[in-house]
Amino acid sequence: MKRSIASVAGPRGSSRGTSAGEPVSWSRRHLLGLVGVSAGELRAVLGRARELAAAGGGESLKGRTVATLFFEDSTRTRTSFTLAGRRLGAEVVDLSAGASSVNKGETLIDTARTIRAMGVDALVVRTRQSGGAAAVAAALDASGRRCSVLNAGDGRHEHPTQGLLDLYTLAEAHGRLDRFDLSGLRVAIVGDVWSSRVARSAIAGVTALGGAVVVVGPAGMAPGSLSCLGCTVSRDLDAELGSADAVMMLRIQFERHEGAAAGEMDTRAAGGVSVREFRELYGLTAERASRMKAGAVVMHPGPINRGVELDGEVADGPRSVVLRQVSVGVPVRMAVLEGCVLAG
Ligand code: NCD
Repeated sequence: MKRSIASVAGPRGSSRGTSAGEPVSWSRRHLLGLVGVSAGELRAVLGRARELAAAGGGESLKGRTVATLFFEDSTRTRTSFTLAGRRLGAEVVDLSAGASSVNKGETLIDTARTIRAMGVDALVVRTRQSGGAAAVAAALDASGRRCSVLNAGDGRHEHPTQGLLDLYTLAEAHGRLDRFDLSGLRVAIVGDVWSSRVARSAIAGVTALGGAVVVVGPAGMAPGSLSCLGCTVSRDLDAELGSADAVMMLRIQFERHEGAAAGEMDTRAAGGVSVREFRELYGLTAERASRMKAGAVVMHPGPINRGVELDGEVADGPRSVVLRQVSVGVPVRMAVLEGCVLAG
C-alpha cells in the first residue's frame, strides 16, 4: 500500500515558511538528511508525530520488519527506534555491528543487501562515514528491492531524526505545536558544531520552518564557513545569551577531531582549545543560564559531559528540555518509520 502523510500546514503554500510548489506531504521512501526537505514535508511528519504521541502507538507497521544496523555506539537513538517500531506493531531486529560480518570484511553495502534479502522493510543505519546511509539506500534502490533507509547518524554529516525531535521539542516549548512554525525564534547552537551531525540537521530544519540559527564556538569548532548552511556564526556566547529562545549545547566530539590530543579530559585539546578554555568561554554554567531570556530553553542531544559544556545544575534545572527531547524522539521516529515504509 502506498500512502503519504498529509501536512498539518493546510493547502499548498498556505503556511509561513512553505513556498508555493513545495511538497506538503511526506512521500519519501528514505530519510537521509533534512537538507532539502521542505517545510511542508517537515510539518507533515511532525504533525503525524503529534498524533502518535497522543495515541501512544498504533498498528500501521504490523507484519513489517525493521532492522537497526549501528556501526557506532548508541544507546538513546537505537533504543528509541526500537521502541518506535514496536509501538507501531513492527518486528524489530537489532544487528549490532560487533556481531555482524562487517568485522569479517564484508562491506556495508553487502551487509545491507543481505539483510534486505531477508525481507526487511526498513533499515536504520548509523555509520562512521558521512554518506554511509545514502550509499546503502542507493545500493538497495539499484537492486530493485523496496526497503526504506533511515539515517541514524552518518559521520559528521546529518542525524535527521535527532533534527526532527529537536524541532518538535522547540515547537512544544514555544507553543508552536499547532503549525510547527518557528518564525521569530532564535536558536543558538553552541560548541563543537563543525563535528556535529546533530547541528547540521538542526540548522536545516529550524531554518526551513522559519527560525534563525546562530552557531557559537571557537574558530576550530565553529568556522565562519558554516554560514553557508544558512546560519550566522559568533565567537561570543555571552553576547548571544540574551537573545536566544533556545540554547543547544554540544559536547566536544574528540573522536571526530583528527589529531585531538590524548590525555585527561581537563587538559586535552580539540579544535584549537583546551577543555578548560572551552568551558570558560562556552560552558553553559548556572550563572550563564541565569542570563538567558525568559522562556528560553536548554537543549542537548546527549551524551552530556556534565561540568564541561553543561553544568549538571542546568541540565537538571527548570529551563532544561533534555529529557523531553528523549521522550518525543519515540513518536517522532514512529512517524518517520511509518511515513517512509508506507511511502515505499
Ligand atoms: C549524538 C550523535 O551520536 O551524533 N548523539 C545522539 O544521537 N543522541 C551526539 C553526540 O554524539 O554527541
